[in-house]
Amino acid sequence: MSKIHLPQRYLPGELEEQYRQLPDKFRESSRVPDEIRKAIRACMDAEKPWPLLIVGPVGAGKTCAGLLLCDVVGGRYHTVSSLRQRQVDAKMGRLYTDSYFSAAKVTEAEMWGEVQLSRLFVLDELAADPGAKEPERQMVQSVLDHREGKPLLLLSNRDPKEIAEIYGGPVGSRAAAGTILWHRGEDMREQTREVLS
Ligand SMILES: Nc1ncnc2c1ncn2[C@@H]1O[C@H](COP(=O)(O)OP(=O)(O)OP(=O)(O)O)[C@@H](O)[C@H]1O
Ligand SMILES: [Mg+2]
Repeated sequence: MSKIHLPQRYLPGELEEQYRQLPDKFRESSRVPDEIRKAIRACMDAEKPWPLLIVGPVGAGKTCAGLLLCDVVGGRYHTVSSLRQRQVDAKMGRLYTDSYFSAAKVTEAEMWGEVQLSRLFVLDELAADPGAKEPERQMVQSVLDHREGKPLLLLSNRDPKEIAEIYGGPVGSRAAAGTILWHRGEDMREQTREVLS
């Protein structure tokens, strides 16, 4: 992949931070695994329905693929816990715009507007916490509501049955109602060491 320029305007602080943590060589030379790329392409081309739920084991490259995709098409990336934190901050009146020049408060409604209006939304670490409570379930449901029919990439270590057990049947079945990719790719962590050596 050629060198990528960060579309700063679209990125919440967390994505910029995570992206910055990827080593330069990785950003320049890594590729999204073929099956992930094909699934994303098929959804983008409306051959397959959104949301795209990618289920795969630890280290399979899901997060990196989501971050790179956001970077290329412009979008927002959150983990379930970072979005929940953002929501709590908005509710408490302590969420501010990421601008050097102004510090406007972001309301919860505006926060959901960001979710709804972004070109692509990536929600990572879906159902990571088996003890997830009601507020998290409601938040995931809200993401599904705000992204109905729009590009939404869900990333998880858990299969749809487990997601339904954690968030309840209605949320689980909606998360799995679009396209599911079982990404069985090998652990990519070794590959990065090769790229960097
Ligand atoms: N396309 C790639 N090419 C080379 N290395 C990669 C690639 N994608 C990921 N990696 C490496 O593998 C590591 C694990 O990738 P990543 O965090 O994306 O996996 P994951 O599927 O999100 O894992 P988890 O389920 O634990 O969240 C990354 O830190 C990165 O070093
Ligand atoms: Mg991950």
